[in-house]
Amino acid sequence: MREFIYYSRTAPTAGHYIKEDLQASGRIDIAIHTVIAAFFLSHKIRTDTKLHMIFAGPPTPPRHLELFPVTEGITGEDKIYLSKKNISTILKRMLYKYKEGRKNEVFPGYWIEKKGFLELVNELNKEGKNIYILDSDGEDIRKADIKPNPIFILGDHKGLPGKEYKRLKKICIPVSIGKRMYFASQTIAVVNNELDRREDGL
Ligand SMILES: C[S@@+](CC[C@H](N)C(=O)[O-])C[C@H]1O[C@@H](n2cnc3c(N)ncnc32)[C@H](O)[C@@H]1O
Repeated sequence: MREFIYYSRTAPTAGHYIKEDLQASGRIDIAIHTVIAAFFLSHKIRTDTKLHMIFAGPPTPPRHLELFPVTEGITGEDKIYLSKKNISTILKRMLYKYKEGRKNEVFPGYWIEKKGFLELVNELNKEGKNIYILDSDGEDIRKADIKPNPIFILGDHKGLPGKEYKRLKKICIPVSIGKRMYFASQTIAVVNNELDRREDGL
């Protein structure tokens, strides 16, 4: 199992804030590319990946969207159809279906709740998870000791929140995919590839 935590300070926290212009909708386009990079292989959806998305944009931050899509069973009953074209609709529907005071499973394997970035990271840390921050100044991921069931944190176009970063560095290990600054989705693709190669004994 591998997990990613994508933090976006601009991604909207209400369904009606996602409009046709995805870039103007709090850069939800970046969140969509992140979902694609996390789950999609050619002709296959990854079943070993969970994606947490913290949306901290207007109007009612924060929201924690957790995606661990069910891939078995009948579409429309046991699972939903996940395609590159319908991700904005899925995210929008999840935001609409937020229920105060509980973690709501909107579709099989798609939950939403009110939870902030640090709260989520602290919770996972208390569970004893191995957490890494994706940071170009970190240790080269090709050489890093990546423990089983790792969790990787990354930011949107504005990066990770500076205030929280100090706390994060105390509980997470910074790892880098190289000296250049990549898109969030590109970073996930590289990390997925690195983990795939290790699993495949390459
Ligand atoms: C587009 S970048 C963020 C750019 C933002 N202006 C900043 O300075 O943080 C999105 C995220 O991808 C990850 N990332 C980008 N390049 C990386 C690299 N070379 N190594 C590790 N992570 C990287 C970081 O987590 C970053 O927050």
